[in-house]
Amino acid sequence: MSPEFTTLKIEEKESIAYLTLNRPKRLNALSSTCLQELAAAAHWFNQQKNIKVVVIRGAGRTFSAGADIQDFQNNATESASWIERRNQGQIGFRMAEAIGNMNAITIAQVHGFAIGGAFLLMLACDFRIVAEGTFFSIPEVDLGIPLSWGGIPKLVSEIGPLKTKELVMTCRRFDAVEAKDLGLVNQIVPLDNLEKECVALANNLAAKPAVPIQMTKEQVNAVAKHIGAAYVGSAEGDMLQTVLKDPESKAAVMAYMKSITK
Ligand code: COA
Repeated sequence: MSPEFTTLKIEEKESIAYLTLNRPKRLNALSSTCLQELAAAAHWFNQQKNIKVVVIRGAGRTFSAGADIQDFQNNATESASWIERRNQGQIGFRMAEAIGNMNAITIAQVHGFAIGGAFLLMLACDFRIVAEGTFFSIPEVDLGIPLSWGGIPKLVSEIGPLKTKELVMTCRRFDAVEAKDLGLVNQIVPLDNLEKECVALANNLAAKPAVPIQMTKEQVNAVAKHIGAAYVGSAEGDMLQTVLKDPESKAAVMAYMKSITK
């Protein structure tokens, strides 16, 4: 039986599973609980020998609005100890690692938008199918923090340093077509066909012999990770604490929050 989560839903149909981000009223924002549940779900999937493909998607009108900003503010309180905040700063990285290292093949089924951490969740998946009209952005710098959750090595390995700097430093929006041109998504399909296309790909992959499929995933990931071999994921907690003490970064957080609150 699938585990029960508060922010996620898991459904299984033979060798294919659907992992749905299930906080539609908050646009599936990735709270600390959600990040921990995603990592726990990834570990649970690794114990399920019958599940070959996992489709990751969002309930409601969008994939996800990224890191939960309210959570982010709560976690930035001075009352938390250094070690608590350091640990808190590594939860996103652990989630991205857990999803990226899953034994099953993962397909991101993306519609609406995938912002910041949600964009990185999409990048943690092996295949990415997005609906027409989907947009992306990486707003962390505007939010006064550096991109974390392992996003820098992941982006550099997929699109190179030049475009990584552009997207991360400008924080500008980019659409599905640009994402596909950059090699970040496999396919753009009409929204009405999104689910059908993901199911078709999942069935196609599930029908293939599991061992060479899994070996291919591991080999590609190992080579891609080579480029970020010097990256120390656990340092992200320290980076976040440092910037949260910087007056200019603090002012940026306040200004950003004001800009998105009506
Ligand atoms: N964290 C927590 N709550 C969020 C959220 C986030 N990242 N993004 C949206 N929400 C909440 C809103 O506060 C709102 O809650 P309310 O109904 O209680 O007021 C609800 O989700 C709907 O959001 P809303 O802004 O009304 O939807 P929209 O369609 O007008 O705008 C966005 C959508 C994504 C453009 C806008 O919500 C936004 O910019 N969100 C922040 C995205 C972000 O910066 N994420 C951080 C990534 S590091």
